[in-house]
Amino acid sequence: MFHLTCIHCGQKYGSDEIIYTCRSCGHLLEVQYDLDAVKTSCETWQTRPLSVWRYKELLPVKGNPITLQEGGTPLYHLKRIGAELGMTHLYAKHEGMNPSGSFKDRGMTVGVSMALELGMKSVACASTGNTSASLAVYGAKAGIPAIVLLPAGKVALGKVAQALMHGAKVISIQGNFDRALELVRDLCENQGIYLLNSVNPYRLEGQKTIGFEIIDQLGYVPDRIVLPVGNAGNISAIYKGLHELTALGVIDKMPKMTGVQSKGAQPVVQAIEKNLPEVVPEENPETIATVIRIGAPVNAEKVLTAIRDTQGTAIAVTDEEILAMQRDLAQKEGIGVEPASAASVAGLKKLVQAGIVDKDEHVVCVVTGHLLKDPETIINQCAPPISCEATLPSLLHALDS
Ligand code: F0G
Repeated sequence: MFHLTCIHCGQKYGSDEIIYTCRSCGHLLEVQYDLDAVKTSCETWQTRPLSVWRYKELLPVKGNPITLQEGGTPLYHLKRIGAELGMTHLYAKHEGMNPSGSFKDRGMTVGVSMALELGMKSVACASTGNTSASLAVYGAKAGIPAIVLLPAGKVALGKVAQALMHGAKVISIQGNFDRALELVRDLCENQGIYLLNSVNPYRLEGQKTIGFEIIDQLGYVPDRIVLPVGNAGNISAIYKGLHELTALGVIDKMPKMTGVQSKGAQPVVQAIEKNLPEVVPEENPETIATVIRIGAPVNAEKVLTAIRDTQGTAIAVTDEEILAMQRDLAQKEGIGVEPASAASVAGLKKLVQAGIVDKDEHVVCVVTGHLLKDPETIINQCAPPISCEATLPSLLHALDS
């Protein structure tokens, strides 16, 4: 049993309403459950496979979900990178191992399932890439049309390829992500299409399961969870989920929620550093980590609570720091992630070096998307393959070079 509640004025809405923001005050909504009814089922979670749907009693979908077995992603111990930082308890949760290669699948399995339960006939989103790939995949699985709006020229190749191949209607907008989002919100409002950006409270419900899995995999609550922040949906979702576990008595402390942005797109970091009451949008966000090239985060209100309430923090890293950590993860740990994903570990490194994060802390960095999402950025960083004639002497010569 659940309903939607406005996070600002507390106005309640029924679970059958198609609504994304409060009709009274315009603020964001969140899903609220009857936690007493959920209490007993928490004990049975451990008997189910690690996945989004292990936690179905804390998710809004009533019937059988549209699923491709999302979640259950690996939690890796970062031994080498940890040792370099003097840390023994540094971990990475590899969300690139989801069906479409990013954490977005956790949200889409829930969001697209809800679209069907609400009787919607088509779905849409604006995206810096991964949301569009995931929506295309889950639209295909559900058998309903998906429309995706992408900022022209600013989406990595792998993601466009996925959206096209899985059959979404892909529209390239002459404007940035923030503009594409405004546009898709208007479209959905006007045309009765179901909006699946992270303003949709149901989508975030799926994403909160990252936090649940981290606790189940570690067997305890880490001191800190670090994430890259764009629209700030993911960090807010994980915070909300862990808050629910606290209310249920499953855990007895909250990890410090820590957000990382790029120097060129850091409205949340600015709000935290300057202790502002709200996030001030940036006009022209720019970063090589194109998925977090966002100046006006949709979940601005939620993220400040998530960080402040847990005594977390936020930090900005340069594009060079992001790319250096992408290489370190690939070459020192065997973990292939796209640039924005490496931002979480790059930010943690900076916080440890600045003495803001203690080396003894138990830290989980969420790495959000797979390396193959953005092949162009990789090829541009790496030396090309060594050309070689097909003879042994040439091969030995090439190996020596
Ligand atoms: N990491 C990756 C790989 C992403 O694709 C995104 C967001 C983020 C981090 C940031 O997460 O927005 O919840 O703070 N990508 C969105 C998209 C915006 O359209 O694919 P957030």
